[in-house]
Amino acid sequence: MEQFVIIGNNSNGELMNLLSLLLSILFLNTTFEMNQSRTVDSPSGIHTVTFEIPDGYPQYSVERDGQPILNPSLLGFELQGAPDLSGPFALISIETRTFDETWTQIWGEKKHIRNHFNELKIDLRETGELERELSIIFRVFDDGIGFRYEFPEQENLKEFNILDELTEFNLTGDHTTWWIGAYQWNRFEYLTEETPLSKADTVHTPFTMRTENGLYLSIHEAALVDYSTMTLERTEGYSLKANLMPWHDGIRVRTSAPTVTPWRTIQIADNPGDLITSYLILNLNEPNKLEDTSWIKPAKYVGIWWEMHLDKSTWGPGPNHGATTENTKRYIDFAAEHGFDHVLVEGWNVGWDENWYESGAVFSFTEPMEDFDLEAMAQYALDSGVRLMGHHENSATIEHYEAQVEDGFKLYNELGIRAVKTGYVGHGQEIFWTDEEGYRNYEWHHGQHMVRHHQQIVELAAEYKIMLNVHEGVKDTGLRRTWPNLMTREVARGQEYNAWGEDQGNPPNHVLYLPFTRNLAGPFDYTPGIVDLLFDEYRPDNRVNHTLAKELALYVVIYSPLHMAADLPENYEKYPEPLRFIKDVPVDWYDTQVLNADVGQYVTIVRKDINSDDWYLGSITDEEPRSFVIDLHFLEEGLEYIAEIYRDTDDAHWETNPYGFETAELTVKKGDRFTLTLSPGGGQAIRFKAVSE
Ligand code: NOJ
Repeated sequence: MEQFVIIGNNSNGELMNLLSLLLSILFLNTTFEMNQSRTVDSPSGIHTVTFEIPDGYPQYSVERDGQPILNPSLLGFELQGAPDLSGPFALISIETRTFDETWTQIWGEKKHIRNHFNELKIDLRETGELERELSIIFRVFDDGIGFRYEFPEQENLKEFNILDELTEFNLTGDHTTWWIGAYQWNRFEYLTEETPLSKADTVHTPFTMRTENGLYLSIHEAALVDYSTMTLERTEGYSLKANLMPWHDGIRVRTSAPTVTPWRTIQIADNPGDLITSYLILNLNEPNKLEDTSWIKPAKYVGIWWEMHLDKSTWGPGPNHGATTENTKRYIDFAAEHGFDHVLVEGWNVGWDENWYESGAVFSFTEPMEDFDLEAMAQYALDSGVRLMGHHENSATIEHYEAQVEDGFKLYNELGIRAVKTGYVGHGQEIFWTDEEGYRNYEWHHGQHMVRHHQQIVELAAEYKIMLNVHEGVKDTGLRRTWPNLMTREVARGQEYNAWGEDQGNPPNHVLYLPFTRNLAGPFDYTPGIVDLLFDEYRPDNRVNHTLAKELALYVVIYSPLHMAADLPENYEKYPEPLRFIKDVPVDWYDTQVLNADVGQYVTIVRKDINSDDWYLGSITDEEPRSFVIDLHFLEEGLEYIAEIYRDTDDAHWETNPYGFETAELTVKKGDRFTLTLSPGGGQAIRFKAVSE
């Protein structure tokens, strides 16, 4: 660790020491006046962060290979009832250190992850009367940078409210950007916009962009704990500023020192595939906090779900109720026969009526409906080598849910249930809490109130050995590293829009944006695996807008440690070959590589199974047909593999012939060249099955 403020250590006696001290102070003061800067490089030297404090106002800038990525950008805060905490500051000390460690994921898309960075910590003190202190910590990696603020314990800053975070990201040009707008009623469930930076509105993160020089950047945050979600507001030209989701009263964050903010992150890569294999967000999160993780297991699940979205059955009671004992038994039998681990049962509990999304305060999280024998089904599942997956839809009535959730988790735990899907259906700013005077205060789904709520739920779930699959929650910021029972989440526009989306569902290119935007945040419960793509019997006006092979490829392309086989058992019986791939494909990986990628157009990802030498490939395209020659360099030297291929036929087409699907087998080895052919809106999935040494 290096201290920047070193008081003369070659002194000859006390006088010399005193002189050195005076000189140091003078030197420091002069450095501010002279706008002295301090830089820190990433381990390979490719990235440089420069910290400066002109006239006492802190700012940072970022370069890659000497080319500016961020021009000088201000840092600081506006506080309630107190002067801004943005300067002028004096520098107290600077520390630098290098960190290099390889850690092991409990589950994930890559087993061993290297966390290698150089850190620069700047301690500042206001020059004014209050002398408040603020530290800024930069971590500079070869795949980007992260920085956070630290508010040390101090006399003049105890409890405080942040009215605005002043962090800027001053970009250098009118980059091409991919984004969804913040502050919308439907939370994160939108299609991706592609615009020049100068046309971007206030956006959610990850906010991904391509510079004119062909670099790829993505701004996001890591370790969002007891703070408000950061969105990005374009202030002028190519400048962005943090825009934190406010509480009902306009305060952005209620907090007290000592504390830290989440990390603000910028991932930087030469090509979009390298964004996908950047683990910077996880590296900036704390290590696992759970002592016993033996009960946490990535898994595949089926469930009583798609049939309600298709209107084949209902969540609510009545003649078409989906979650009956009989129907659940059917799904359990199917899961047991085909080796699926969990059976999700939605609509099992009291409270589902026609208006459930408006009147969730009637949900019970312990009482099953009359025609559903919860205990018997939980036991039947266990006896069949399967487990039920619980469901807690609370329709965003948080107070009501918080009062019952522990009983709900306890019940599930007693019944041997290990995974629960939660749901917070409700418009963007519909979360309320009742204050001491009885007023209902309405909060955003992503403000600090809900960040706190989700944190409590994940910790409570861990106590009851429950893995979580969160829908309509807060965006992922890598907390799964610290709480590995936080498996996956939706928080984007998923498969369900294909069933009932009034805009014809997800267009063919929707899933071509997700790997470079939403998925950079973390796992996504997209619920792939629809084989009856047109579902004419139930919803003739809707359909899945791609080919069957592409639907299979999504299991590899979209990472989730809980992946659903979303279609109905009776449909899988009609499609044995796709079902075979869905059964085979793992949900926990030793390694992940991206073979080719272009945002919104195509991507080919290969992943190595954690439990064998098998590799799996998923390749998908937008409406353009594509042919790629790939090199099988990733396969193990000396092994022979059978490539089990699931592909589009030559005449397959997402619109006119989505079922154009065929399988093939080929013997291959490391270094072979292999041609992938994808039809318009199509894809290809391959299992490379290791057969010999
Ligand atoms: C929305 C969720 O995304 C979906 O998966 C679920 O079925 C419904 N809410 C009901 O909870």
